[in-house]
Amino acid sequence: MIRIKFYLFKEQARVFKRYYKNWRFALVDSSLHLLYLFSNPYRICRKFLERRGAEVVYAYGETPLTTLEGIVSAFGIGADDRWLELGSGRGRGCFWLSQFIGCQVRGVEWIPTFVSRAAWIVRGLFLNRVEFKNICMQEADFSWPTVVFLCGTCMSDEEIESIPMELLPLGAKLISISEPLNKPCFTLVKTLEVSYPWGKTEAYLQIKNDLAAKSSTPLQSMNLWNTAKPFFRQSDGRPAR
Ligand SMILES: C[S@@+](CC[C@H](N)C(=O)[O-])C[C@H]1O[C@@H](n2cnc3c(N)ncnc32)[C@H](O)[C@@H]1O
Repeated sequence: MIRIKFYLFKEQARVFKRYYKNWRFALVDSSLHLLYLFSNPYRICRKFLERRGAEVVYAYGETPLTTLEGIVSAFGIGADDRWLELGSGRGRGCFWLSQFIGCQVRGVEWIPTFVSRAAWIVRGLFLNRVEFKNICMQEADFSWPTVVFLCGTCMSDEEIESIPMELLPLGAKLISISEPLNKPCFTLVKTLEVSYPWGKTEAYLQIKNDLAAKSSTPLQSMNLWNTAKPFFRQSDGRPAR
């Protein structure tokens, strides 16, 4: 716990130093902090999942912005991309991308509080490259993005399976954290070691290929995440859960 708090403290110091020179981002990020000063996003997510009767209710976490920077730089994401984040949480990463990469960003998230607060920031600060939708990720428009980002480490195989990734355009990039998506219509092209508060893990870059129509593998029988590996490793290499 202390290790995680120290990590988050160091990360925030880096965020301040690296990104707050951009006054617009500084304003966005400070607004986010203010909006969640008395209502912690982990608690909001837990309450939401409890109301739904979910088995796993501790399912919230955020990709650190410096980690996100490493991912977009290693995987060649640029201003011409259209980024779809499945389960965008508070939207912090989406705001960062729209300010620093300059691409079009869409976050979809099923917790209404996260989306309404992110939408206040979009409207209040007249941001025009980023939008949020309060929908289930399975209902997103998969014909729109050139890149999909999924940090679905707490999601079950069934939930992952129900995301219609085969609807992505040919050549679209799928970035997933901890495990690659084990579907034949995606080719794994690159992996990157990334840092999260709870330890090291991998980010995977996969490209949508044209095997979707040709494959006869029934999706139900496939293990969609490659579950042979632990989700997260601590810095000493032990599984974090
Ligand atoms: C681990 S958090 C990741 C947040 C953000 N993507 C990041 O990396 O910082 C996962 C988020 O996905 C959302 N989520 C999980 N299942 C979802 C679903 N079926 N539809 C929409 N959002 C979902 C959760 O509410 C949570 O905010």
